[in-house]
Amino acid sequence: MNLSANYSHHKTNTMSDTKPKLRSQQWFGTTDKNGFMYRSWMKNQGIPDHEFDGRPIIGICNTWSELTPCNAHFRKLAEHVKRGIYEAGGFPVEFPVFSNGESNLRPSAMLTRNLASMDVEEAIRGNPIDAVVLLCGCDKTTPALLMGAASVDVPAIVVTGGPMLNGKHEGRDIGSGTVVWRLHEELKAGEINLHQFLSAEAGMSRSAGTCNTMGTASTMACMAESLGVSLPHNAAIPAVDARRYVLAHMSGIRIVQMALEDLKLSKILTREAFENAIRTNAAIGGSTNAVIHLKAIAGRIGVDLELEDWQRIGRNTPTIVDLQPSGRFLMEEFYYAGGLPAVLRRLGEANLLPHPDALTVNGKSIWDNVREAPNYNDEVIRQLDNPLIADGGICILRGNLAPRGAVLKPSAATPELLKHRGRAVVFENFDHYKATIGDESLDVDKDSILVMKNCGPRGYPGMAEVGNMGLPPKLLRQGVKDMVRISDARMSGTAYGTVVLHVAPEAAAGGPLAAVRNGDWIELDCESGRLHLDISDEELERRLSDVDPAAAPGVAEHLGKGGYARLYIDHVLQADEGCDLDFLVGKRGAAVPRHSH
Ligand code: FES
Repeated sequence: MNLSANYSHHKTNTMSDTKPKLRSQQWFGTTDKNGFMYRSWMKNQGIPDHEFDGRPIIGICNTWSELTPCNAHFRKLAEHVKRGIYEAGGFPVEFPVFSNGESNLRPSAMLTRNLASMDVEEAIRGNPIDAVVLLCGCDKTTPALLMGAASVDVPAIVVTGGPMLNGKHEGRDIGSGTVVWRLHEELKAGEINLHQFLSAEAGMSRSAGTCNTMGTASTMACMAESLGVSLPHNAAIPAVDARRYVLAHMSGIRIVQMALEDLKLSKILTREAFENAIRTNAAIGGSTNAVIHLKAIAGRIGVDLELEDWQRIGRNTPTIVDLQPSGRFLMEEFYYAGGLPAVLRRLGEANLLPHPDALTVNGKSIWDNVREAPNYNDEVIRQLDNPLIADGGICILRGNLAPRGAVLKPSAATPELLKHRGRAVVFENFDHYKATIGDESLDVDKDSILVMKNCGPRGYPGMAEVGNMGLPPKLLRQGVKDMVRISDARMSGTAYGTVVLHVAPEAAAGGPLAAVRNGDWIELDCESGRLHLDISDEELERRLSDVDPAAAPGVAEHLGKGGYARLYIDHVLQADEGCDLDFLVGKRGAAVPRHSH
């Protein structure tokens, strides 16, 4: 019995006779055998006829998982998105995608960022979806979902899960991740005992949400907002604040309109939008991981972005957001102070927002969205003439040690070490580092430079966040707090130190890092952007001719094993290219796949 027929009109008949306006009508808008089959199976969920009448069908791409604690509240978030979609006359369809959570996934959530992006891309393209809401949270979920959606280029809006409430420990606020690095160093230096160390665990993560520091998750949420692919305030509203659910609801309303306007991602993700994001990253003291993720997203949508753009647009921009790990506060205070709109207004009023006219998902320019944004706390979001760091941004380094570039975050570094010459203490890989760093006889002093190889995209594989190598315990006990560290790895956005990262090409791709030996002199100069290994060109060439990249431990292990890691090693691009898989770069569009029936 067709219950719907008792009180609804089967409008699909009429839709099929006209040119389908929405791509979902290519599934549901016909009265032939195919239309019958597509609708019939959907109806097993109790969906009445009129839902197939040509209204926008909105995918809700959900990275919910109990193994991704930062995104574990996303079922509730999705419910509020659905309310908005229904209210605006759309038809929501929620679907799961691979959830790459930072805290649990081994060897690195970065290894599966591209896998998740493939999942997202094919799920959107292959299904009857006119537009999509991207539920993002933990670090890699934001770039993965944007990369996948960009390759399809449908209308899309980001709804972030929001940060955790401030951590609390011994009467003080503590920040996700950042406190772990600090307490662990204090433990190794003998300044605290094991009980004190472990007692911070529960207090650090005491509500739903992502890391509450300006780590990679918060950075990427700010990147999404400054790119214009989310509604204003998306980045900072705490996960458990009722206003987070209002934002989800409003995003649901807006995406239905975007589907009808055909406001595709490519109209938002322009070169101008990326330049706004790079400037914003400097102002917020954002994570170095943004360099890789923005490049990968730009590559999918067809925007050329170079490392030098970070130097040109980002460097010398004042960092005005006083958040850990560079500063003092946490995301909760950031939201209460005015959130990202207050930062963007401050930049715009000083003509530091490169493209105020850039379009955003609500149909307005980014400047229209923020021109009247209030700032309630000048300590958290500081005045431009009283910045946390006068010359923020990401420092791009080049030289014979990093011909294709390396990055360093000056705001997280010790100013005196930004120009430094020291002797290399070399670790062949992360295992070697772990086995050696505690050795009391290790030939290292405070002026040494710690060098770690084989932790890049191919070498690890997945380019783990191990670049902020902990210091030798014997130096920690002497009171040494920071040293220059160099590797082809990444660093957690919650970490700090004078850490040179993303050296490209990596050691496991035959890069010069592979040639460094104990005792070599290395020069770092952030001012001039130089990273130099002090040996002759001939000597460098001779040493490199002895290196076999395929024999790097991480590579050799996976070449024989196969599986996704093998695919990744064979196709991953270097850090300066965004670590995407070479065959995934670019936009492949939303053309509907052929009928299967
Ligand atoms: Fe998920 Fe930090 S571990 S946001």
